[in-house]
Amino acid sequence: MSEQSMVQKIQEAASFISKETGIKPQIGLILGSGLGVLADLIEQPTVVDYSRIPHFPVSTVEGHAGELVVGSIQGKQVLIMKGRFHAYEGYGAETVSFPVRVMKELGVETLIVTNAAGGINESYHVGDLMVISDHLNLTYRNPLIGPNDNALGVRFPDMSEAYSKRLRKLAHEVAASQDFSLQEGVYVGLLGPNYETPAEIRMFRTLGGDAVGMSTVPEVIVARHAGIEVLGFSCISNMASGILDQPLSHAEVMETTEKVKPKFLKLVLGIIEAL
Ligand code: 6GU
Repeated sequence: MSEQSMVQKIQEAASFISKETGIKPQIGLILGSGLGVLADLIEQPTVVDYSRIPHFPVSTVEGHAGELVVGSIQGKQVLIMKGRFHAYEGYGAETVSFPVRVMKELGVETLIVTNAAGGINESYHVGDLMVISDHLNLTYRNPLIGPNDNALGVRFPDMSEAYSKRLRKLAHEVAASQDFSLQEGVYVGLLGPNYETPAEIRMFRTLGGDAVGMSTVPEVIVARHAGIEVLGFSCISNMASGILDQPLSHAEVMETTEKVKPKFLKLVLGIIEAL
């Protein structure tokens, strides 16, 4: 995406969504594998297929790229990305995170991101929910590379509190009110698409990682560049490689997220209510 036209593209996408939905969302949500059902809780939703939005990434695979679901939850105006773009599909980091730029343009001040991740921390269990305290960008890609547009953010954005302390505290309080506790830890963001080797997982543990996945990092970097406050959750869908004596499969990831879904939905609803 050329820097000159970036702002224009963002504005065109945002104004299309505004016209279609007539809403000014304060909260944006990016929902990972299996968690898109939260969108079903929107009262009087307006659904906009990604393929209709100007400059939105074009799906490289057959079938459904995803859709925006916009409306209100608990009296708050929200915009949900049901389906996200991953770098392993062949998208550049700036493309993966373009929807976050559009959210900012639409007025979003708070971004909630969710993903499925492998547990690196050996005290974690499959099915745990983890508040992301911080991340390690091990994708070796960055959505901010290239000339900086000061209209979008500063050249050297601060990442000392990428994941809002205030919102993390709120998440723990909401979970406690629902009688469960959340893990809190560091998300290791990788490109994928293969799962890691046991040696890689040992390395990430040494580096301070608690969970590992293939998403979230580019979106969060752009959100912080844009001055959006971020709250992130990982659903520990399986233990990372080498911890249990069994191979990893996408089927297991989907199975666990399916089981955890009701708890996850209630938590996110509680947080939206409390925001
Ligand atoms: Cl173990 N690794 C990665 N990279 N992504 C995952 C995962 C593991 N489990 C769920 N998503």
